[in-house]
Amino acid sequence: MATLLLPLTILSLVAAGIVAGHNVTISLLDSAIAKGAVCLDGIPPAYAYSPGFGDRYDNWHVFLEGGGWCQNVDACLDRARSSNGSSAKLMSTQNGIVSFGGMLDANSTFNPDFYNWHVVKIFYCDGSSFMSDVEDVDPKYNLTYRGARIYDAMMDELLRIGMGNAKNALLSGTSAGGLATTLHCDKFQSLFHNTTRVKCVSDSGFFVHGEHFMGADWREAFFFSVISTHGLANMLPTSRTSKFSSTLCLFPENLVPDIQTPLFLIESAFDSYQISQNVFSPSDTSPRWISCIRNLMFCNWTDIKIMKGTHS
Ligand SMILES: *[C@@H]1O[C@H](CO)[C@@H](O)[C@H](O)[C@H]1NC(C)=O
Ligand SMILES: *[C@@H]1O[C@H](CO)[C@@H](O)[C@H](O)[C@H]1NC(C)=O
Ligand SMILES: *[C@@H]1O[C@H](CO)[C@@H](O)[C@H](O)[C@H]1NC(C)=O
Ligand SMILES: *[C@@H]1O[C@H](CO)[C@@H](O)[C@H](O)[C@H]1NC(C)=O
Ligand SMILES: *[C@@H]1O[C@H](CO)[C@@H](O)[C@H](O)[C@H]1NC(C)=O
Ligand SMILES: *[C@@H]1O[C@H](CO)[C@@H](O)[C@H](O)[C@H]1NC(C)=O
Repeated sequence: MATLLLPLTILSLVAAGIVAGHNVTISLLDSAIAKGAVCLDGIPPAYAYSPGFGDRYDNWHVFLEGGGWCQNVDACLDRARSSNGSSAKLMSTQNGIVSFGGMLDANSTFNPDFYNWHVVKIFYCDGSSFMSDVEDVDPKYNLTYRGARIYDAMMDELLRIGMGNAKNALLSGTSAGGLATTLHCDKFQSLFHNTTRVKCVSDSGFFVHGEHFMGADWREAFFFSVISTHGLANMLPTSRTSKFSSTLCLFPENLVPDIQTPLFLIESAFDSYQISQNVFSPSDTSPRWISCIRNLMFCNWTDIKIMKGTHS
């Protein structure tokens, strides 16, 4: 998968000239090593924590970063050498700092509802939407598939620093992190007492299967590869895998009916990533179609009809 576009919400803020945010230090979770909860390259995962303040001191927002998936060993190897698969690389490219903007912003002007919550960003370095848990390290390529363990180790750490006392707790994520949010939502809720209000927000993470829609076979084949590369067949909810093939269980349309925790889905009807040739028309990489995706002025009515089909 070549590129993953930023969620439209962030793009529109940038377009409006409002680029806010505060800098937060990135930390490696060293305690994760003992649990084998490591990135593709075998080193500990990274997170950034901005403590809450003021009258909403007890509220926690945990954000799962996105960034596509790696669907075979080569793609995972590439990823392990990038900041998407190695927190060492992340640290060096980011100088150990991340800017918290949008729903993570600590400025009430930009983020009136959540600005003073405890905010934790969990960086994505497993390529499986935080779902893999393979004991053996790939002997040939030295790759480690442990996304679910990373998620669990991060939750242990957050409980250790007080998240368990939250009045409100929110799990959110964008793109592959949005899918991870959907997949982990009920598990997240189970961390809390019944006095905590728990909700989930999946932003741009509703990847459609669209059985009767252009490219469905390709989309299915891609998720099939992700599942086999990361050994996810047994990691998906059994209530779903009893009804669908494991591949189909990675598509949110087949996952959400079972989720007990309130889940809010944010999805542009014209999500540019999903409309792009990567998802809807993998075979059409013509400059004509690509310029149409980028600017509707260059589309003809057939193209518009394809895009409108994404609504249904
Ligand atoms: C945040 O960090 C960047 C460098 O990573 C720096 O250019 C910027 O000035 C910092 N912003 C604030 C508000 O400290
Ligand atoms: C495999 O990765 C681990 C963790 O990064 C590293 O310590 C080890 O030296 C690597 N082994 C080989 C054979 O490259
Ligand atoms: C991380 O992954 C995203 C999505 O696949 C890609 O756009 C980005 O270039 C990758 N970053 C690096 C450093 O490889
Ligand atoms: C929030 O942002 C506004 C607009 O940039 C700025 O005037 C204000 O000082 C900021 N507030 C804090 C607490 O940083
Ligand atoms: C919450 O849990 C307590 C103890 O398990 C139980 O007594 C109480 O009825 C529960 N409250 C709700 C609203 O479910
Ligand atoms: C739009 O362009 C495509 C590719 O050139 C073509 O197959 C299709 O017939 C065109 N549709 C219309 C309505 O012109």
